[in-house]
Amino acid sequence: MRTIQVPASRNYTVWVDGGLLSQAGIMIRALCPDGIRVAVVTDSNVGPLFADRLQEVLRAEGFVPSVFTFSAGEAAKSGETYLALLEYLAQMRLTRSDVMVALGGGVTGDLTGFAAATYLRGIACVQIPTSLLAMVDSSVGGKTAINLKAGKNLAGVFYQPSMVVCDVDVLRTLPQEDFADGVAEIIKYGMLKSVALLDQLMVRDLREDPTEVIAQCISIKRDVVERDEFDTGERQLLNLGHTIGHAIEGCSGYQISHGRAVAIGMAMITRGAVKAGFCPSTCLTRLEELLARYNLPSHCGFTAEELLPFALGDKKRSGDTLTLVIPTGIGVCKLHSIPVEELGQWIAWGLES
Ligand code: GLY
Repeated sequence: MRTIQVPASRNYTVWVDGGLLSQAGIMIRALCPDGIRVAVVTDSNVGPLFADRLQEVLRAEGFVPSVFTFSAGEAAKSGETYLALLEYLAQMRLTRSDVMVALGGGVTGDLTGFAAATYLRGIACVQIPTSLLAMVDSSVGGKTAINLKAGKNLAGVFYQPSMVVCDVDVLRTLPQEDFADGVAEIIKYGMLKSVALLDQLMVRDLREDPTEVIAQCISIKRDVVERDEFDTGERQLLNLGHTIGHAIEGCSGYQISHGRAVAIGMAMITRGAVKAGFCPSTCLTRLEELLARYNLPSHCGFTAEELLPFALGDKKRSGDTLTLVIPTGIGVCKLHSIPVEELGQWIAWGLES
């Protein structure tokens, strides 16, 4: 078992191990001694796999669980689903001593976290991520959000979970493509902070035993969140590959998954950094080798003209400047502010071979 303490505006524990879903009832009872109701939020893919088991272990601890299930997919991370979820919580009469549980991937975690932050001005939220991507990134750190028509994650708040339970056994049922999506975020941590992690990814069979690597990524994220919870400085580094990645997701009508879009976004920004003279070409070669090893893409079929409007809607824009995260070496990145007019050039560089 690996445990990671996150000392943010709320201090909480992230647990990483096999078999934790069966312990979730006991863990949530320890967290909410007076809680009665638990609203489990899940999607139409994950619910049928794990919701019954979770309800069983919650009932065994005296809770009254209920399940809100929405249609799987990014389209559900919307104002409509968010309001339907709030109405559901009110109908179920959840109080401030009760708890919400996000059982699923990034969409479920972001939506549930946002609802937990705003229902009754905030009730406890436990994250039980079931995708590799959600385990290593979105379930930890307190970023919650829904999408607006104008772009991804444009409405949200920082709201730390009360506990994160990563049961690595649930990854066994994760399709290979979804597993690879999570690896894209793991590669991101390596590119940002750890050559050792990149080395491990080249030799380890991650599917065989992911616990250690997941814990390493969460520890890296914990350190960053501890120093910059509200994303005013260093935390922006965690957006490596995301400005262009979000544009790729948007351009594809969310047909290209987040992990794949981030993989392409990292490759494109690294290509740009090499062309702009900030980064040695060996760094790009290393990244492309790693992406290929996990069958992740490093190019997309969109043009700069198609990507630019989506990239300009990105949250990292502030007035007429935009902060890019650019690699300067293997395992090292920096924040680099550019006038928005230069973004097109960076995207064009990224599209070159
Ligand atoms: N996913 C980036 C962050 O949590 O800051």
